[in-house]
Amino acid sequence: MAHALEIAQLGAPVIRKEAVKVTDIQNPELQAFIDDLLVTVADEGGMGIAAPQVSVSKRIIILSPKPNTRYPYAPLMEPTIMINPELTWASTEKEKDWEGCLTVPGIRGLVSRHQTIRIRYQDRNGLLLETEYHGFLARVFQHEVDHLDGLVFLDRAESTKDLVTEKEWKRIMASHNQA
Ligand code: NI
Repeated sequence: MAHALEIAQLGAPVIRKEAVKVTDIQNPELQAFIDDLLVTVADEGGMGIAAPQVSVSKRIIILSPKPNTRYPYAPLMEPTIMINPELTWASTEKEKDWEGCLTVPGIRGLVSRHQTIRIRYQDRNGLLLETEYHGFLARVFQHEVDHLDGLVFLDRAESTKDLVTEKEWKRIMASHNQA
């Protein structure tokens, strides 16, 4: 039975390691791990997750955006498993917006990301797929792929002054919604 895995938090060495390419997609153990990762991201209510976040240093991410209280503007998408994901093109236009991370609880930050990207990945059957993302999905993809390179969103902040606690972030959001 698939089960939720423990989230590695900032400070765990695995979060700072470069993850290795997956070459044995059909391996039953790998397929079972993907099922566990799907359960974990659903359980945690994350917009996405990367394998290193559950202490598995392999190039696998899941995008699973859905609107919730933190991200009311998130699109609803079936959880999408991406193996060996890569950027093949990125717009020069960037966009700054809030991010958070299961690995960095209690902190949120304003992070600049490419607005539009083209990407390539393999699905869980090993099929090579290409697509283009814009806005929120492009942001989630870039955030998750950073985890595969040992980076977290804190590293992408232009200034530490763009980092806030979750409590203060809620206050900022509430005041924006009133304006
Ligand atoms: Ni993250």
